Formats: sequence, structure tokens, C-alpha cells
Amino acid sequence: MPPQSPHAGAELVRTTSATPPQQVRTRPRNSPYLAVPLAVAAASLAVGVTARAEQVRWWEVAIAAAVAVVLADLAAARHGLADSDRKQILTGAVLAVGVAVASAISPLNLRTLAGVLAVVAVATVRVAHHPSVGHRRVAEARRIWLDSLAAEFGAVAARVGWSHLRLNGIEDWGHGHTYRVQVPRGYTIDRLKSAEDTLTSALGRRRGEVTVMIDKEWPTVGAIHVRESDPQAALTEDNLNPQITSVADKLLVALYEDGRPFYLRLFDLLVGGLDILIVGTKGAGKSSLIIRILKLLLRVPDVTFIVADGANGRDLGVFADNNCFYRYVTTPRDLLSLVRTLCPLVDERERVMNQKRWRVWRPSKKHPILVLLIEEMKVFALSEYGPQIKTCLEYVSTRNRATGIVIVGATQYPGGSNGKNTFGHEVRKGMENRFQFRMGESGGMGVLGRPLRRRITSQEKGRFQAEAYMEDRQMHAQVIWTSDEERLALAEEWGGKQARPDDEWNLAEQRAHRAPVDLTKKEKPARKPTPPGVIEGECTVQDVTFAVVRELPKKRAPMDWEEAAETYKELLRQAGPVGVQRQDVEAATGWARTKLREEVIAPSLDARWATYQRRGRQHFYVMAKYAAA
Ligand SMILES: Nc1ncnc2c1ncn2[C@@H]1O[C@H](COP(=O)(O)OP(=O)(O)OP(=O)(O)O)[C@@H](O)[C@H]1O
Ligand SMILES: [Mg+2]
Repeated sequence: MPPQSPHAGAELVRTTSATPPQQVRTRPRNSPYLAVPLAVAAASLAVGVTARAEQVRWWEVAIAAAVAVVLADLAAARHGLADSDRKQILTGAVLAVGVAVASAISPLNLRTLAGVLAVVAVATVRVAHHPSVGHRRVAEARRIWLDSLAAEFGAVAARVGWSHLRLNGIEDWGHGHTYRVQVPRGYTIDRLKSAEDTLTSALGRRRGEVTVMIDKEWPTVGAIHVRESDPQAALTEDNLNPQITSVADKLLVALYEDGRPFYLRLFDLLVGGLDILIVGTKGAGKSSLIIRILKLLLRVPDVTFIVADGANGRDLGVFADNNCFYRYVTTPRDLLSLVRTLCPLVDERERVMNQKRWRVWRPSKKHPILVLLIEEMKVFALSEYGPQIKTCLEYVSTRNRATGIVIVGATQYPGGSNGKNTFGHEVRKGMENRFQFRMGESGGMGVLGRPLRRRITSQEKGRFQAEAYMEDRQMHAQVIWTSDEERLALAEEWGGKQARPDDEWNLAEQRAHRAPVDLTKKEKPARKPTPPGVIEGECTVQDVTFAVVRELPKKRAPMDWEEAAETYKELLRQAGPVGVQRQDVEAATGWARTKLREEVIAPSLDARWATYQRRGRQHFYVMAKYAAA
């Protein structure tokens, strides 16, 4: 293969709006102001020639001035006014005056000179105040800077040991830029991701400002995103308050690190409801995401909220006080009552859909999409009503997609023992939109199919990585913040204007509570009926020694999910390249085989931090970094 220039095919996507960074070179290559004196000189000479022939009349000077302005405008537009140096304007003006004086001292008279000077003054002022000057000046400076980055890229790539990396172009997105890169055929770009830190250093950036992304389809193509400033700093009114008219609209809830929008879909007209699981430690930003969703949807007529607030009104109280929710509860007992009502409601909606031949619920003000929002799921899941709430939710969660009921849950504990903090596996697995905010000390594997691209620090509030419907970029994003004043204003403005599906709710409530259950009592497991022909009673065995049949397994009591995942990691770490067998992990965690494989081992293989090896007839799990070595 012939050697390729590192910049072959380089193209520059030019900026539309940008702030030049400090180190921008400001000298333009073609000064547009050279056009100004030329235009003015032409006008001056025209005036001069006229004056030589006869006396100059005032309207001739006016016409000449107009011509000069038009010429200056044309020149500015054609060359692109980009230079920041005001001295250029001065030089232009002096040059034009020189031309005018030269024509004045030979055949022209004083009056003509005055006319010429007037023309020069008008044209110069016009150029100095041309609307495109400031904007273009900045744009041109930035273009030059990006040009220089493209030129230096070969050296940067060589410095990080990737001299075969080719630059296809630099894309500018205002608050940063993206190097579109490629390796020649026969190479793969996958490992560039592990060079992220080295690249960050080579580009002279801070940790976290450089992100490498590998193309999902092409193993030779990738992108290096460089963040120059916080994209949130330049949010426009359109971004902050987008016009949302239906629950089926996509919701702009966050911005990716590279400034692109992150859209959340709660309901799709063809697919139906899309449940959401929001996970993160204390103060990571879970509620801020919920508030952002509320901000966009409270004004929408075809959706209504049913809220279970385990945080006792810390964030949602202001909305509840202003009557923004159709139902608002704070205790597990009341949540149980709500989810019991949802069961017959789902049944009824299915019946209506069958009748009308609808595949997916069609939301309206009278029959809106119902969003069941559970803030701090743990409070409810671990209560004495947890198992009953779980049973009802499992029923609802298998049928809620088409029937237009959306479950949104926020929790600090996605795992817990058997996932019961999120009402168990059945409820959790249906939550397709997954948001992973900062995790606590243990780090944890969270709820994504892969580990976080980079650990989120405690300073990065509202930052998450997500796997959501039609949004699966492996890049962090930040929730668009809603201030306390905005929350209050929003609640006051929109409170009480939401849809109220009274008819169907009351009907469902009646059905759910037709046979009232005493919710204060715990449900006892039903006794098994005694098989016929068996006599019940007690018997005493005397003087009998039972021989030990076999050794008891050295298994401990099952750990909870977080502990088991951590133990598994630790075992792999200690075993190094030798790896561990499933039986070892079973013994250490006390977990049964299938559960261990599905909830701990399989996710580690999916996330690719562990690999599977077969040696003879034995199977081993090895940490990827040891396997690669
Ligand atoms: N998107 C954001 N932009 C800026 N600051 C944020 C953002 N999200 C959260 N914060 C900051 O972090 C604090 C905690 O956020 P939030 O209440 O949303 O966290 P949480 O995960 O719900 O916490 P908890 O589990 O304690 O309820 C906020 O008061 C705010 O100061
Ligand atoms: Mg919260």
C-alpha cells in the first residue's frame, strides 16, 4: 500500500458560531480591507475626472459616495471581513486619502478634494460598522485555528504512537471540535479508545475533555471529540424551552459532552410507552432529570402523572402543592392502592383497544398516557407492602407498553438482594430507557450493558450515561438544569391544567376495591391441602444415629447483588491470568448456578471486562486485561 499523507482528504467543516480560544492567530491571509481603498480610489478618480471636465455638483458627489459604499459592501461580502485589526481600516482610509490628494493636486480643485474626502469617510465608516465584521472576524480566526490543528494532527498522532492514524477532517461544533479519523485497511481503530488519556495529554487538554468514539459499523473509522467549554453555557431559549405539544414528541432533556442534544422518548406512537430506570447515588442528579421531564410535559394535554414520592416532597412537593399531579402519594400503603387500580385499568384499556382495533393506545386529553413516577423506589420496595406492590407492578409492566402506561423509577440501589429495590427483575427488565448517574463508592456495574465510559466524579452533577430508545451514544451527557425559581413558576403556571382521566380511573378504582382487602394485615402464604390418606401428627425417634451421607457444601448464605458482583470481581482480580471457575464463584457468593450466570457472569462478559476461556474440559473466567496480556 502506498504511504498516505496524514492529512489526505482533509476537509474542514467551517464554523457557524464560535468563540475563538486564547491561542488564535489573528493575522488573516487576505485582508478584505485592501478592497476598500481600491473601491474608494475608483470612486475618487471618477469624481476627479468629472471635476476636471466641469464644476462638481453636489449630487455627483452623492452618487459617487453611493457607488463607493456599494463597492465597499461588495468587496466586504466577497472577501469575507475577518480581520480583527482596526489599524487595517486606518491604513485603508489613509491610502484612499492619498489617492484623492494625488488627484487633487494635479488637475483637480479644492472642492473636488472635499468631495473625495467625504466619499472616503462615508466608505470607511460603512466598512467599520458592517454587520458581518465582528462575526466573520471571529469565524475566520477560528477557521485558521482549526486549520492549524489539522496541520499539527500528524505530530500529535505520532506522539501517542499512532502515526498510521489519518485525519479525514475537523468538524466544528462551537464548544469543541471533532477530529474524524481513520486507519488504513488491515488495521483496527478499537484500541484507540484505551489511548484516550495519552491523547488528552498530547492535545494539551484536561482529563475528561477528550473522548474517543469508535464507529459502530466500520472498524477503521473513529472520532476524537474535544470539548473546549461547557455546552450548557450557550443553551438557547429554544433549547431551554422547546415547544412540546404531545407526549409523543421527543424531549430534549440533556446535552451530550459534544454539545449535541440528548432526546428522551417516553411514548412512541408506533411502539407505545417506554419505561425509564434512573439510577445513581445520593445527589447524583436523578431528581433533576425527573424535574426536566416534568418541565417539558406538564404543559402537554395528553399525559398525566401519578406520583409516588419516597423523598417526601423534597423535589416534587412544590408540584404536588400546586396540583400538577393526578395522584400524589408518599407512603407504600397508598402506592399499593394506586398500582392495584392500575391493574383493572390496563385490562379495560386492552378491551377498548381490541374493540377499536388499535395496536397502540392513542392518547387524548380524556384518555391520556399515564406516567407512574416512583421517586426513591427503595422506600416502597423494601416496605412491608413491597411484595404486593411488586406483584401488581409485574402484572402492569408486562402489558403497559401498548396500553399507554409508562413507569418511571428513580433509585440509588438498582441491585439489592435479587433486585428487590426496584421491585425485582420482572419490573426492571422492562425498563428500556436506562440512565446511569454517578454510582457510590463501590462503583458497581450499574444498569447498563457495559461499564461507564469514564467514572463520573462527585463534582459532575447531573451527568449520566444512558442506553435509551434511539439514543445510544457511548458518551456522557448532562441534564439541563431547572432552577428552583423556574420550578415554582412552572408549577404555579401549569398546576391544575393537566389531563384528568376521571372516568376510567374511577371505574378501575371501583373494580380494584370491589373486594376490599385489609391492607394493614400481612398476607400469609396459603397452606397446602393435606393429601388424602395421610395421618397428621407428631412422632419421636429414639436411639438412632444417622450416618453422614455426604459433606455439606461449603457454600455460604447468598450475598446481595452488589456484594456478589464485587466478590466476583475480586476473585478474578486475585486469580489473574489463571482465572476462576464458576463453582468457585458459587461457593464464594452463595449464589445458585443459573442466577449467578445470568446476573453476574453474563453481564461481565457483555461488558467485556471479563472473558471466557476453555482449557481442556474446564471452563474459566478471566479478567479481560489479564487475558489480553
Ligand atoms: N443537571 C444539573 N446541573 C447542575 N447541577 C445539578 C444538576 N443535577 C443536579 N445538580 C446539583 O446536584 C444536586 C443534587 O441533585 P438531585 O437532587 O437531582 O440529585 P438526586 O440524585 O436526586 O439526589 P438524592 O438521591 O439525594 O435525591 C442539586 O441540588 C444540584 O445542586
Ligand atoms: Mg432525588
